[in-house]
Amino acid sequence: MADRWAEQAGRVGADLHLELDGGGSRRAALIRALRAAVSEGRLRPGQRLPPYRSLAADLGLTRNTVASAYAELVAEGWLTARQGSGTRVAARSVSPVQAPVAPPARRTVAHDLGQGKPDAGSFPRTAWAAAARRALTAAPNDAFGPGDPHGRPELRAALAEYLGRVRGVRTDPARIVVCSGFAHALRLLFGGAGGSGRGVLRGKLAVEAYGLGFHRSLLAAASVRTVPLEVDEQGARIEELPSGARAVLLTPAHQFPTGGPLASGRRAAAVEWARARGGLVLEDDYDGEFRYDREPVGAVQGLDPERVIYLGSVSKSLSPAVRLGWMVLPGHLVDAVIGVKGEREAWASALDQLTLAEFIRSGQYDRHVRRMRQRYRGRRDRLVSVLASRAPHVSVSGIAAGLHAVLRLPPGTEASTLVRAARAGVALDGLSAFRHPDAAASGDGLVVGYAAPSEHAYGAALDALCAVLPKR
Ligand SMILES: Cc1ncc(COP(=O)(O)O)c(C=O)c1O
Repeated sequence: MADRWAEQAGRVGADLHLELDGGGSRRAALIRALRAAVSEGRLRPGQRLPPYRSLAADLGLTRNTVASAYAELVAEGWLTARQGSGTRVAARSVSPVQAPVAPPARRTVAHDLGQGKPDAGSFPRTAWAAAARRALTAAPNDAFGPGDPHGRPELRAALAEYLGRVRGVRTDPARIVVCSGFAHALRLLFGGAGGSGRGVLRGKLAVEAYGLGFHRSLLAAASVRTVPLEVDEQGARIEELPSGARAVLLTPAHQFPTGGPLASGRRAAAVEWARARGGLVLEDDYDGEFRYDREPVGAVQGLDPERVIYLGSVSKSLSPAVRLGWMVLPGHLVDAVIGVKGEREAWASALDQLTLAEFIRSGQYDRHVRRMRQRYRGRRDRLVSVLASRAPHVSVSGIAAGLHAVLRLPPGTEASTLVRAARAGVALDGLSAFRHPDAAASGDGLVVGYAAPSEHAYGAALDALCAVLPKR
């Protein structure tokens, strides 16, 4: 039945994720689910809906229930029905203002394999609380006044030492500006909410063909034109950098999300390119500490601190809830970034900064990262061995580092797999969701985060994943 639905969903061109949640009759639930699919754009104007009989079979409803729900939505103007061409989404579907849509019922996630989430249960509560107590006790009075937009000196000193030791970053505290995470750093550099709105960099930005859509939207909102740079197993193809680009945004330690480290020749080529063009490399080091196969790949920034802006945060290493990150800047950009940030610190709590500084200084950060690296490596190994025995036709890549893996699927099976996953309550992403709209597709796949489930729930999450994968 699931496969029939997958075919059907493919025919209407979407993974509909119809979920008949919420109270009331099955007919009312189907109406709500279809309205939500139209208003969220999963069903587009003109798209054809499945015939009554097959939708009924797939959702376990009677044919009459589906027919009656379609009729209701035709009457409301969401759908149109014409003899011979079936039922379609109306060309100008009713906007939510004309016919308010009941908020879609929240999808129940039984197994969270979404990327981008560290193991929330492993947050080092006791050590963090102890660091906060020590930091507060020792804090000078000026810590409780308006904050310096550079960030607390204690944190910048701790970061300069830590990043130099662990990531090979060459800096001193004066070139570090604290922010509330990578997304905030992008806003400060390119404009938009989170600073004065101006930004400090101009011109076309090359980005990896696969990356986080949220970051692309954030750049688009700041009117930054992004051009995609294809990626392969050696990372971004630096040799294809478009001539008009002024800067390039890279994830050199672990290409996000496909997973390869940027090859050493390409790291050098990126820096050479920036030197020759007067350009800049923006290095997103989002999970550089979680490398499993060998010593961490050092930061590209170490090759040329004047041509590389190094960006990091604690979102993967500790928790995205902390909202602390850092920019390690070429000397000539520090004042410009501070100018954009404003006269006072408005984003990153000085008290959290002091706590993080103490957490790093006391060795707790290293200890936590070491512990989590072991745990995540164990998770990754389990994923790989379960797939090898139960889905050997699905290859796994991008596993030398990080908190997620990419599962390569047979061509044409990504959308239907996501439909089955959604119905089984397995939260995960399709690879195509990460593709830049102007980039060529590089095949079907899934991005599977293995850090989020709690230890006891992980086995069940892997079982659920295997159950929704395409059969060979
Ligand atoms: C590619 C990538 N860059 C950066 C980050 C960090 O973002 P932030 O510091 O804004 O939470 C993430 C998410 O953790 C990410 O997936």
